[in-house]
Amino acid sequence: MRGLVLNYVNMPRFLKKPMWRVWHNWILSRDKGDVALRFMNYGYAPLDGDGTTIELADHDESERFGAQLYHFAASHTDISGKDVLEVGCGRGGGASYLARYHNPKTYVGVDLSEKGIQFCNSHYRTPNLRFVRGAAESLPFEDEQFDALVNVESSRAYNDIEGFFAEAYRVLRPGGAFLLTDMRLRDDVEALDEQVKAAGFRVDAYYNITENVVRSLDIDDERRRHLMRRKIPKPVIKMFGEFAGVRGSGRYASFASGAMQYVSYLLTKPEAA
Ligand SMILES: C[S@@+](CC[C@H](N)C(=O)[O-])C[C@H]1O[C@@H](n2cnc3c(N)ncnc32)[C@H](O)[C@@H]1O
Repeated sequence: MRGLVLNYVNMPRFLKKPMWRVWHNWILSRDKGDVALRFMNYGYAPLDGDGTTIELADHDESERFGAQLYHFAASHTDISGKDVLEVGCGRGGGASYLARYHNPKTYVGVDLSEKGIQFCNSHYRTPNLRFVRGAAESLPFEDEQFDALVNVESSRAYNDIEGFFAEAYRVLRPGGAFLLTDMRLRDDVEALDEQVKAAGFRVDAYYNITENVVRSLDIDDERRRHLMRRKIPKPVIKMFGEFAGVRGSGRYASFASGAMQYVSYLLTKPEAA
């Protein structure tokens, strides 16, 4: 399992999508009843202080670091009053956080997982927020409908990353912001840079937040373990720890050693000449 999690990116393209769907649908099936998991990312924490960057209502506190990753990713631009699309919204925790705290005019979350979208549609009741099932590589929207596109810890799974970048470019209005935040093997970061530029985007800001992700995993470790003990069957708990990035897992080690890098971009679709 450790190998599967770490080498997922090298799998044949035709296997990636079905595997991802099965895996995510299984995770979702584990978190019924007292729902605990609205975010599925490794989180963000500043390197100094107590690890907090934002004020949260009490009911948002339990998944603080996931929310902080979204806050960091979206704060590269101002999305208030804007039409925002998120691709790979998962269980919608980030969409709900941004829709409530960053005041976009509209926020649409898209995900490949039908179970994820069902969860989001039944779980959130925010007037400016809705969810639609769809694939990153063929977004179910007309051209130039959005001012900003949010994509957090999802693009690495896509079987056609160039197809996704072309779609992101197509659905954004000229001047629109593509807020891309994700991990890549150290040797693949340069290729990512080239791919976004080849799609037509201008790189307006780039941040390497690997150390912030490690700090988030450190501070959040006990909560992650506690959740696993509550929700995951004992025989697969160790395997799941790989995915959750708990201390001692291969995923955690890959971030801590720098073999896996976590990056965050503000990309802009240039205004028409
Ligand atoms: C690690 S989760 C992150 C979810 C969310 N962004 C978060 O941070 O909580 C990755 C998400 O990407 C979605 N995903 C994977 N491949 C996709 C694709 N081709 N199109 C749309 N969503 C996809 C998965 O279903 C999953 O919900």
